[in-house]
Amino acid sequence: MQAPDHLRLGVNIDHVATVRNARGGAYPDPLRAARLAEEAGADGITAHLREDRRHISDTDIEALMASLSVPLNFEMAATEEMQAIALRHRPHAVCIVPEKREERTTEGGLEVAREENRLAHFIAPLREAGCRVSIFIAADPAQIEAAHRIGAEVIELHTGAYCDAHAEGRIEDRDAELVRLREMSAYAHSLGLEVHAGHGLTYDTVGPIAAFPELRELNIGHFLIGEAIFRGLDPAIREMRRLMDEARA
Ligand code: PXP
Repeated sequence: MQAPDHLRLGVNIDHVATVRNARGGAYPDPLRAARLAEEAGADGITAHLREDRRHISDTDIEALMASLSVPLNFEMAATEEMQAIALRHRPHAVCIVPEKREERTTEGGLEVAREENRLAHFIAPLREAGCRVSIFIAADPAQIEAAHRIGAEVIELHTGAYCDAHAEGRIEDRDAELVRLREMSAYAHSLGLEVHAGHGLTYDTVGPIAAFPELRELNIGHFLIGEAIFRGLDPAIREMRRLMDEARA
């Protein structure tokens, strides 16, 4: 049994597919990585099916849905195509993210406040199908309030600005981002939302975020897949788990 304040680790396997797709063919296999991640203690697997299928493919999603024993968190843009795929598979969780074809990665959070009506209608059938709907947003009260109003159960706070500031040595910016994230995590929780976080997290940046008491889940991918080149996927994940537990203790 997990403790009620257990901080779940969702391992994002998108970039196993990135390496596979660099050559085409079948390896490295994201499903194999997902199984290994489960054995290493991942509480869930996260995969982002992009419109351009640059990493995870439709077949990967089918294989993950058929074989995983931990929940799949299906990241997707708020498009009709993705909604139909999610309704067909009914994954445990759906995370709605903004998506731009020209970006290298998900650059910012979703502008929920600007599209409240459309998003409310968009997520309703996903919730009715039993998917736990999460909205990936910046640590901004207006976005949190809008996510709450449209009926999302979960928000995922974008940690990219905090991680970028750390990587670039902008210490004041990093600390300001951390304060913002901490305050917004508490605010979202006070509204009754479940709070997750992710994007850009590494061994160096995970601790202060994992320490937020309201946080229930972190989703981490790119760094772990990169680190796996040097130490293997299993030890890379176990070390992240250890650092999360240490920060929580
Ligand atoms: N959470 C969300 C919503 C994301 O879109 C991503 C990146 O796909 C992540 C977490 C994981 O980010 P990273 O791969 O930088 O760890």
